[in-house]
Amino acid sequence: MKLPKNFNTNYSLKENNSLKLNYASDYFVSCNSEKDLFLIYDFLEEKKIKYWIFGDGTNVILKNNLKGLVIKNNLKGFSVNGNSLIVGAGEIWDDIVFESLNKNLYGLENLSGIPGSVGATPIQNIGAYGSEISNFVNYVETFNFNKGCFEVFSNKACNFSYRDSIFKDNPCLMVTKICLDLSQEFKPNIHYEALPKIVKNAKEQRKNILNIRSQKLPDHQKIPNVGSFFKNPIISGTQLRRLVLDFPDIKYYLFEDKNFKVSAAWLIENAGLKGSKKGDCGISKKHALVFYNYSETSDFLLSYSSEVIDIIKDKFGIILEYEPSILC
Ligand code: EPU
Repeated sequence: MKLPKNFNTNYSLKENNSLKLNYASDYFVSCNSEKDLFLIYDFLEEKKIKYWIFGDGTNVILKNNLKGLVIKNNLKGFSVNGNSLIVGAGEIWDDIVFESLNKNLYGLENLSGIPGSVGATPIQNIGAYGSEISNFVNYVETFNFNKGCFEVFSNKACNFSYRDSIFKDNPCLMVTKICLDLSQEFKPNIHYEALPKIVKNAKEQRKNILNIRSQKLPDHQKIPNVGSFFKNPIISGTQLRRLVLDFPDIKYYLFEDKNFKVSAAWLIENAGLKGSKKGDCGISKKHALVFYNYSETSDFLLSYSSEVIDIIKDKFGIILEYEPSILC
């Protein structure tokens, strides 16, 4: 059977996940072209084994060795069509933000500095500083590994919501390219409280965003982490009103359908856990929603984070959910 050139067995994934966890996969292949996609599809059809699609691994927690094939999405491409960008899933997201501004196409500046690849952006509907990728997606092209064919999803069909999309429940879909609709006019999005309210142009806005990020979020190249470890929980108005009686300073925002989004960082900090440690992992002193890890396994990280979930549940009656995907 013909396999793509770069096929490996018993492959350490340490350099393929931002927590630097040293687990291995039985097989590993980098998918660089459409031809590779079909070769990989044939391989999976014959072997009938499990598979995982990896971007840059900045939002995954490995639980153990992966018994199957890891497909590294390395499909490149960048083109401009009027106000739209068409980008390959294997490109680095922040390079694309930078390039879009160079092409005088605006909208992505508040999403500057988010680590990871383009393919991952619609899957978890990345968002930061009052902006989400779903605000810009025209369509997402995918390869369906169950069917062996391409499938295109319109923005509506992506079913986007807070850190969620149709792709999260359909791991057989590998994002191959995305099309983003941008604007030739820079309209500054400055609602986020810490952003300067006067901004000259989009490049300055990008600089401001990168500056805020560097103050709050540790660089995973230096301190292994996955950004926010939990989602901000969504609760009902009734639950919020009860909480406010006991915790008048609780940080929350109005969300859709009369619900409220509560700051998970606030809950963790106010449970006294910011800066706490267990073994080789712990919670950042810079931001209570960022867990760091210096171990080659995720044992302590997962056991400590589940202790944190229990503490938050006991104190506030709220169940935190992991933001990154846990792979096993
Ligand atoms: N806060 C604390 N303690 C802290 C940090 C924050 O109490 O240690 C409180 C503050 O009141 C602050 C509020 O939490 O005003 C919100 O903090 P921040 O603005 O940093 O945002 P976040 O809700 O913690 C979310 C996203 C981030 C994104 C920022 C900025 C999620 C899970 N996280 O974090 O996304 O960068 O907003 O918009 O929605 C990621 O997804 O990995 C990520 C980093």
